[in-house]
Amino acid sequence: MTATTVKRAVVIGSGHYLPERCVENSEFTATLDTSDEWIVSRSGIERRHFAAEGENTSHLAIHAARAALEQAGINAEDLDSIIVATSTPDMTFPAVATMVQAEIGAHKAYAYDMQAVCAGFIYALANANALIVSGQAQRVMVIGAETFSRIMDWTDRGTAVLFGDGAGALILEAQDGDGSTEDRGILSTDLNADGRYRDILYVDGGVSSTATAGCLRMQGKEVFRHAIEKLAQTADTALEKAGLGSDDIDWIVPHQANIRIIQGTARKLNLPMSKVIVTVQNHGNTSAASIPLALSVGVANGQIKRGDLIVSEAIGGGLAWGAVVLRW
Ligand code: ACO
Repeated sequence: MTATTVKRAVVIGSGHYLPERCVENSEFTATLDTSDEWIVSRSGIERRHFAAEGENTSHLAIHAARAALEQAGINAEDLDSIIVATSTPDMTFPAVATMVQAEIGAHKAYAYDMQAVCAGFIYALANANALIVSGQAQRVMVIGAETFSRIMDWTDRGTAVLFGDGAGALILEAQDGDGSTEDRGILSTDLNADGRYRDILYVDGGVSSTATAGCLRMQGKEVFRHAIEKLAQTADTALEKAGLGSDDIDWIVPHQANIRIIQGTARKLNLPMSKVIVTVQNHGNTSAASIPLALSVGVANGQIKRGDLIVSEAIGGGLAWGAVVLRW
């Protein structure tokens, strides 16, 4: 009897980029009625990076893309597709992904953006997995890149202190697996949306409504209320789809919005914080970039190793949320 062969989307490289300017909590006290103590205790955030004037989402994405190519040891021409998860594109069109494609010289790759706000990277990973499993691509670069500093209302202390800019990238390659949970690569995905909650987290502008970019508006407490429950539920569902349980997890690499959400979700999954990659203190909430940033940082500092079982989950505007189970 021959063993079953299945196609798996396996990570062969990761990279990230943060803009040079790092802003400590204390900088906000000059213009807002806030304090380092409030920001740290309510969110866990200590600092974040902001893009320089003229530095756009595509520029951050290109840096992260080059770092991932270098780690993977492949050429840009070897990519079949580039997907950029972002809610803060340079322009309404063309897609940021096409800007990355041109700049890195990935001439063979079809390229497009995906927008599911903070869940964008999870949606994009699931999409890349589908391309690979269905044979439409051998190698896909998935990037999360954001400049949320461009959609902040700097007079709103409830949001201005929470977000940051950055980018992270993964390269996924089609490899044969035996269909078992020991395979490397994406083992399951779970995606969800509920558009009835659009008013608790949104941007008050847009191309066809105001013809402006708008500013982020958030009912923080409401988002918080949904977050822990929905994140734990989607992580459980993804694990179940993969035929695994929370005991099998080596690392949770969650969307980095708020340390209290991260802790609450870990508690619900019965996992100690020692199994969670946390970068929110240094990056703030970088929306679709937060998971690839955390994965790349986790690899760079030696926490994430080949063969580790990773669960990533995210929730954001929409609401849209989801989880991916993958073996690194
Ligand atoms: N500094 C000082 N005080 C502040 C600040 C600030 N920066 N921001 C708000 N406050 C005040 C509020 O005005 C309020 O004052 P009041 O009681 O006099 O009205 C008080 O602090 C308490 O505010 P809450 O909103 O109740 O504080 P909470 O403990 O809920 O924390 C927070 C707020 C951090 C926003 C939290 O609710 C949260 O993290 N929510 C989830 C946000 C999130 O995860 N978003 C991710 C999705 S992002 C995406 O998809 C783009």
